[in-house]
Amino acid sequence: MSKQRYTITAALPYTNGPVHIGHLAGVYIPADIFTRYQKAKGNDAVYICGSDEHGVPITIRAKKEGVTPQQVVDKYHAVIKKSFADFGIAFDNYSRTSLPLHHETAAGFFKKLYDEGKFVEQTSKQLYDEQEKQFLADRFVTGTCPKCGYEHAYGDQCEKCGTSLSPMELINPVSTISGNKPVVKETKHWYLPLDQYQDWLKDWILEGHKHDWKPNVLGQVKSWLDDGLRPRAVTRDLDWGVPVPVEGAEGKVLYVWFDAPIGYISSTKEWAEKNEKDWQAYWQDKDTKLIHFIGKDNIVFHTIIFPAMLKAHGDYILPENVPANEFLNLEGDKISTSRNWAVWLHEYLEEFPGKQDVLRYVLTANAPETKDNDFTWKDFQTRNNSELVGNLGNFINRVLVLTHKYYDGVVPHPGELTAVDKDVLSQLKTYPDKIGKLIERYRFREALAEYMNLARLGNKYLADEEPWKLIKTNPERVKTIMYVALQIATALAVLGEVFLPFSAQKLKEMLQLTQKYNWDEVAQKDTLLPAGHQIGKAQLLFEKIDDETVEKQVQKLLATKKQNEADNRPVEPQKDEIEFDDFMKMDIRTATILEAEKMPKAKKLLVLKVDTGLDQRTIVSGIAEHFKPEDIVGKKVLVLVNLKPRKLRGVESQGMILMTENAEGKLVFVNPDEATPNGMPIS
Ligand code: MF3
Ligand code: ZN
Repeated sequence: MSKQRYTITAALPYTNGPVHIGHLAGVYIPADIFTRYQKAKGNDAVYICGSDEHGVPITIRAKKEGVTPQQVVDKYHAVIKKSFADFGIAFDNYSRTSLPLHHETAAGFFKKLYDEGKFVEQTSKQLYDEQEKQFLADRFVTGTCPKCGYEHAYGDQCEKCGTSLSPMELINPVSTISGNKPVVKETKHWYLPLDQYQDWLKDWILEGHKHDWKPNVLGQVKSWLDDGLRPRAVTRDLDWGVPVPVEGAEGKVLYVWFDAPIGYISSTKEWAEKNEKDWQAYWQDKDTKLIHFIGKDNIVFHTIIFPAMLKAHGDYILPENVPANEFLNLEGDKISTSRNWAVWLHEYLEEFPGKQDVLRYVLTANAPETKDNDFTWKDFQTRNNSELVGNLGNFINRVLVLTHKYYDGVVPHPGELTAVDKDVLSQLKTYPDKIGKLIERYRFREALAEYMNLARLGNKYLADEEPWKLIKTNPERVKTIMYVALQIATALAVLGEVFLPFSAQKLKEMLQLTQKYNWDEVAQKDTLLPAGHQIGKAQLLFEKIDDETVEKQVQKLLATKKQNEADNRPVEPQKDEIEFDDFMKMDIRTATILEAEKMPKAKKLLVLKVDTGLDQRTIVSGIAEHFKPEDIVGKKVLVLVNLKPRKLRGVESQGMILMTENAEGKLVFVNPDEATPNGMPIS
């Protein structure tokens, strides 16, 4: 069989923040499994990615932080690149779009289309911030959505109703840089006339790929095509990006969604240069399969706009498939960078060092392949404890420990195979193909489940054959059983490399497996680990995660939620105006709580003795549900001392302690400085 060439791309992440579990689950893990698998099959696959370093959010962030956009992308490029490497995402190249090689490639692409008249030039009215001397594209402007009335819609999209917008459509637009109301000014831009590609796209995708592309992808394509495609501007009035390489385009750059996908090409070029390969084979040879792994928010760009660009250019192949995933939610809520509602990869590694594969496992087993899915810490714990520890880890541990115990770690010579042994070994041989077929159809969850079924097969075999009992009565038979079990363990090490690279590596070391098997050899060979082979020390592949550990993560998220709620809590409106004299009538003094005890038979009341500087008096306060009496003795507080006394449950209360609420809605004292003497008036 000749080698199939694959160019596999994963969406270039925006470089304005770190990466989280949603990124991994949606894009980088599935693409990683797919690439590892193709390589294990012996195919010529290259896994391409890099940082998407242009775009308005990056310049806005830079402005806010008082640094340059380059500083922003330098910082996050390093963070993102490290996270991917830490999680074993095995890119062949991870580039960045701020590199000269990319600028040249993107500018060259534009220039060819420009020279060949593939663009439409058009002058139009755009929003302009006079103070900042800048046109307001995309996220530089917000306003009310004309479709749904949402007041914080962006210039390119309303995040409430999902409508794609242009800045001029916004009602009451506001510049996000200055807060100013923009004016309307004329400017010239180049448009890719997508309408001219409508019929071709329809034919190519909705006819040509109706059976092999995912339904969620076809659905979006159909809805865009049904709406009718319109020319789309591919340049912007900005100073951060790839400068438009034609005369009369000063101060203009390529639209980020024009330059970023070309980043796949420049990243491939960079890889080819470093490795003495021919990049053109990966982008221009009709026999190469180009696969784009993306999240669902990128579908239109990878199925319509980028293919139209490639088609217009003419020298390039088109994607064979665009397996987009849906979104991963976190504990029931949409993952959000701005609300810090995420599990950040670098933070996960601090809390769970060495447990990359656990996260890889959970995110694959629960990947949002056909619909949005939810990540919960409870599910994370259960899958680790019952599936990784209980199934895979348990099988491997039994095999390794028993082999050491019975044979000092030497693979025993099998005797005659029984029908059961033969059946198990022939079942083993079905797994490479079963798992592979699912991966080829982008069904990574099911593929992983089949992999775990192989471990289950091993566990069942041992449980049925009970070598630990037979060792007393029939030691010869045990040799055969352990030999068979070791073949399954070896298959798990080889096939596991695509899903759980760290554990597979560890397992290979435990087995001292030096032979490099490719995927299909697992089914072809009768012996994967020969009799007489010495294996290495047994170590635990996975360990249990206890309740306390996951509870800590849940609490961390709860704290984030509370903080978000506090940040968004509406402030009570101001009360009616009062005269100065009204204020002066109130006598508020600094005081110290001397004693505190619960009012008998009253849930809410504490009886306090307070030193007001004037006297020591009794105050009944409705704070018993928020404070323990012993915790508040000695507290410095503010007391309204001339409030008319009143009786509460028969006790006269002579004043009122001033309180407010903290971010979590809990009552707290309004404290004066601890050193303030009692009796100081507030004015
Ligand atoms: N930066 C984009 C995002 O995170 C993805 C860009 S994909 C590319 O949504 F094709 F443009 F590279
Ligand atoms: Zn809207």
